Amino acid sequence: MNDSGHLTALQVMQDAPVIPVIVLRDKKQAISLARALVSGGIRMLEVTLRTPEALACIEAIARDVPEAVVGAGTVRSAADVQACAMAGARFAVSPGYTHAVAQACRDADLPLLPGVATGSEIMAAQEDGLTELKFFPAMQAGGPAMLKAWSGPFGDVRFCPTGGVTAGNAAELLALPNVVCVGGSWLTPADALAAGDWARITALAREAVQLRRTAS
Ligand code: 3PG
Repeated sequence: MNDSGHLTALQVMQDAPVIPVIVLRDKKQAISLARALVSGGIRMLEVTLRTPEALACIEAIARDVPEAVVGAGTVRSAADVQACAMAGARFAVSPGYTHAVAQACRDADLPLLPGVATGSEIMAAQEDGLTELKFFPAMQAGGPAMLKAWSGPFGDVRFCPTGGVTAGNAAELLALPNVVCVGGSWLTPADALAAGDWARITALAREAVQLRRTAS
């Protein structure tokens, strides 16, 4: 955190090698899941705004799991930014880049990891002062080869590739000098969530924390 006690996007990315992308439908489940991930060493949690219960789940984690740092994912509008900030989200992740979402995050004092998949989107984000970006959908849009190509013209940008990232390919991405962390849903399998198998989720988080990365 900086002097004002607020997180930067870089700090969100640096906390662990993986930011879990989470879909939640139940507040009690949200709290148990957040505790399971924190026990495994993962504190930065991206709860996607994809279910009617997502905001209530963010609120529950922010209130009841102080060791976690809960953020909102799938943020697509200024209204989403305002709603997730009100619910207690500490950072925002978006699947694409718009000036309106970036401005709303600045207004709400919320660090933003916006999604980009082209050079033009990277340049738009840079024009708004953002240099820590999510590459989405990473594996579908070019994967490691794309990140290597971007390291020339966009050598000052640091990425969090997300989309199609798994325990099997995360290491290759994290070895790249312009990748600070990756995002993915593999730490929170739907069947483990449904079964309340928190030990499995803690074990997946522990494995994720062990992943080596090159960038800082
Ligand atoms: C998403 O938006 O669902 C994330 O990118 C996660 O993708 P994944 O399920 O491929 O990890």
